[in-house]
Amino acid sequence: MAEQARLIDIYIMGRHCQVPEGLTILTALEYSGYRMLRGCGCRAGFCGACATIYNFKNDPQLRYDLACQKAGEPDMCLVQIPFFPAVKAVYDIEKLEADGEKIKALYPDIVKCFGCNTCTKTCPQELEVMWFMTDALRGDIRAVADKSFDCVMCGLCAARCPQGLVPYNVALLCRRLYGRYLAPVSEHLDNRISELDSGEFDAEIEELKKAGEKELRRRYAERDMEPALEQQWE
Ligand code: FES
Repeated sequence: MAEQARLIDIYIMGRHCQVPEGLTILTALEYSGYRMLRGCGCRAGFCGACATIYNFKNDPQLRYDLACQKAGEPDMCLVQIPFFPAVKAVYDIEKLEADGEKIKALYPDIVKCFGCNTCTKTCPQELEVMWFMTDALRGDIRAVADKSFDCVMCGLCAARCPQGLVPYNVALLCRRLYGRYLAPVSEHLDNRISELDSGEFDAEIEELKKAGEKELRRRYAERDMEPALEQQWE
């Protein structure tokens, strides 16, 4: 007979529940009867929808994680933050310039940062949030885009900032400015898009659309891999 998973006690918004050990927080919520209409998206650590705050019964220190990535632990007391009403500047990226001063113009409150570092301690992605906010203050778009690259926009940094700053939205602005104006042009991508636009692959795509799953899997397994990618797996 299959061995049964050990049950652990957790507390969901104050309600005591018992869930099998090893479930992620997200799955534990569902196991306990919660239907996730909000606070759940990709289930893979990318969309940032499942921001969760928790502490333990005998340890009041708050911790922050993505519910789809963090396993439940005994005596966890948890709440979710599926939405946080944070400031978000409205702009048309096509009408902006890659000028660092634009960051302060759209998010003037960033000057109020007093360096408490709560944002960094809160980030479930372990990003150096306070440092990229310092870069934003200096107008260094490239540095902010680089340091915030793994941000999943969960909003926990804004939820916890005592000054009401919105690091994740500041970083999004910088990544957009970087992508639109500063990132080097990828020649081979442009070439491939022209090939697609010219219909060069239309027949092949139509053929793939008609292929069954088995055939698609076979072709995927047998596809040519670029040399750089192959080397990564050696
Ligand atoms: S559901 Fe998307 S990051 Fe957790």
